[in-house]
Amino acid sequence: MSRFYKQVFENNEKWIAGKLAADPEYFKKLAYGQHPEFLYIGCSDSRVTAEDLMGVEPGQVFVHRNIANLVVPTDNNVNAVIQFAVEQLKVKHIVVCGHYGCGGVKAALHPHDMGQLNSWLQTLRDVYRFHMDELEGIPTEEARFNRLVELNVLEQCINVIKVDHVQRSWYNTGYPLVHGWVFDIKTGRLTDLRLNMEAESRNIRKIYDLRPSSNPG
Ligand code: CO
Repeated sequence: MSRFYKQVFENNEKWIAGKLAADPEYFKKLAYGQHPEFLYIGCSDSRVTAEDLMGVEPGQVFVHRNIANLVVPTDNNVNAVIQFAVEQLKVKHIVVCGHYGCGGVKAALHPHDMGQLNSWLQTLRDVYRFHMDELEGIPTEEARFNRLVELNVLEQCINVIKVDHVQRSWYNTGYPLVHGWVFDIKTGRLTDLRLNMEAESRNIRKIYDLRPSSNPG
């Protein structure tokens, strides 16, 4: 057993002691239930941790992470997370958070065989394909890489808006609001890409309006 492995359990004991010192009822309250206002969909990258970068406590964010923060319509996992967050937790915000320096996005910039990852990264390569004119007009590779990170976040936000549960709830209650963020590992700064949910919904409504009332006949 590695030293680091044992360290985790020692860290856990210290964390419990610290929480109880600040509030003896801490775990009693935590066990009572969760009412997170946010669903955070981010990258699995070990350097990009939702709660730390948002400065929030356990119980405040419902989290889903995968390689390159993708929202793939056939992914049962992300679909279940979104449905639960919207229908049961009634989150007010769904955030897709990408990050500069993302290894998944970088892999999609260079065509080569990635084995198991090929089908996963196809969603990213499609983002490149949708925005090829803009991306190939960018002179440096670093700037192109950064822009693909941002465009991927925006495309995944659109994928969230397409989800039937999200559409129904948004039309009926005004929530959840969908946001695109980018985290910069070099500075720690979080940027809101200011996605216009109203405009994006309008753009896709013609082919993605899944509300029951919109069905013909
Ligand atoms: Co990443």
